[in-house]
Amino acid sequence: MGIGLDSAMHSKFLQTCDIPVEQYAIGPFTMVIFGGAGDLSRKKLMPAIYHLFSDNELPKEGFSVLSFARREMTDEQYRNLMKEAIKESGESSFSEQTWNDFSAHLTYMSGRFEEDKGYIDLLEKIDRLTVPDNNGRKNIIYYMAVPPESTPAIVAQLNRHNLAKGNYRTRIIIEKPFGKDRESARKLNMTLHEAFDENQIFRIDHYLGKETVQNIIFFRFSNTLYEQLWNCRYIDNVQITVAESIGIETRGNFYEQAGVVRDIVQNHIMQLIGLIAMEPPLGIEADSIRDEKVKIFRSIQPMNEAYVDNFTVRGQYGPGKINGMNVPGYRQEKSVAPGSTTPTFIAAKFHIASWRWAGVPFYIRAGKRMPKRTTEICIQLKQPPLKLFGRTCDMLEPNVLKITIQPEEKIVAHFGVKYPYAPNQIYPAKMIFSYKEAFNVTPHAPYERLLIDCMKGDLTLFVRQDGVEAMWDVVDPLIARWQQTAPLDFPNYAAGTWGPQEAEALLEKEGRRWITE
Ligand code: BG6
Repeated sequence: MGIGLDSAMHSKFLQTCDIPVEQYAIGPFTMVIFGGAGDLSRKKLMPAIYHLFSDNELPKEGFSVLSFARREMTDEQYRNLMKEAIKESGESSFSEQTWNDFSAHLTYMSGRFEEDKGYIDLLEKIDRLTVPDNNGRKNIIYYMAVPPESTPAIVAQLNRHNLAKGNYRTRIIIEKPFGKDRESARKLNMTLHEAFDENQIFRIDHYLGKETVQNIIFFRFSNTLYEQLWNCRYIDNVQITVAESIGIETRGNFYEQAGVVRDIVQNHIMQLIGLIAMEPPLGIEADSIRDEKVKIFRSIQPMNEAYVDNFTVRGQYGPGKINGMNVPGYRQEKSVAPGSTTPTFIAAKFHIASWRWAGVPFYIRAGKRMPKRTTEICIQLKQPPLKLFGRTCDMLEPNVLKITIQPEEKIVAHFGVKYPYAPNQIYPAKMIFSYKEAFNVTPHAPYERLLIDCMKGDLTLFVRQDGVEAMWDVVDPLIARWQQTAPLDFPNYAAGTWGPQEAEALLEKEGRRWITE
């Protein structure tokens, strides 16, 4: 007997058709921000929380933000500091009335992260401030907005003082950088796991909070149009560019330790590769998606020394001009060593050793002080098997699918059409989908989206332990090799240019070029 429509309808594989539309109201919670007076809190976190409040996404009553930091301050002084920060962030919804309502939810306590006393006070404050949810549970979110070296001590103290599990339902948000290599990440994970279960740990990569990054999965797996071509039979190469026109701003101390690989490649670029390259997940729950990404990280071909020497390019910016303004070189920035060898630019080729991607190079480049800010992914398709049009010795303009993450969020398909009147000429045309034009909505800023997801307990857009460690496995050999061989030509690109010449040569020697338009 054949399988009738009816039995097919009851197949467990089709049950995803019935996923109900999510209706979720955020219940009462207390967010404890360690380092709540620092840069991250002022520039990103507090404006995001304020915005969620003014958009009515937070419960009107029953939420508290408690900042725990070293500096001595009263609640009043802290509120004033945050008020200025929110105004400076350019928050469009700022109003005195909303601020007054919001600021009543903010409190401050000063303490030393390593000392017991602060945690005894914290326990008492949390208990007093937190309103139980409908199930009688008290929800606490710890946000680590502190330098990475402070995290282990704080986590150990939370554990010691019964603040990690105990009577509360807790979650912890950890900012990048998550370790500085595979080994330190593994140790940090162990420390975290002594206090929290993996499903309480929210490792933030703010790129995953960007609407267009999330769209990669939707675009890939809801359209037959491209997914059929999404493999080594049809794709010639993939290019990922994360270019910033800003320099390192006031973060010299951090950047000297990090450099471009730890700052951008190990996290943001790896996540983009994961989403572009992953196999269809079994479902849309967090772990199904995270499983597939981890498989990709693990299948990236390990780089040995010869590979690093041949297929990676590093750079550091010297003085130059951005938008007509003179800007200093990296070595002239505050807190940077005059002879620093920290790279601010990378171009590299990665290979994914999988059935789908065998032989398809993934070219990546990232840099500070590039001519403009842009993050984009270009999928370049192969040439057709036979050339019928145009002058037969030419290469055709390749078909390209370009996904622009920022600044303008769009997807552009490049294809060839007949040029009018000319008998045998191909014209490279574009089909453009722009988020702004298509939808008249402003999506949540990445931090807002990620905070909401953490409040809901949704881990999809957060990085799992094995993912973090696998991403370090990819970049550790590259960092080690670069450290072994001092760059003698730094600075080797002027601010306001697309990096050193070798970045162009990396593709040219393989008969390709960076797709810019
Ligand atoms: C951060 C890096 O993770 O991402 C910064 O530490 C970088 O150096 C920033 O400037 C870029 O983020 P975005 O969202 O502006 O692309």
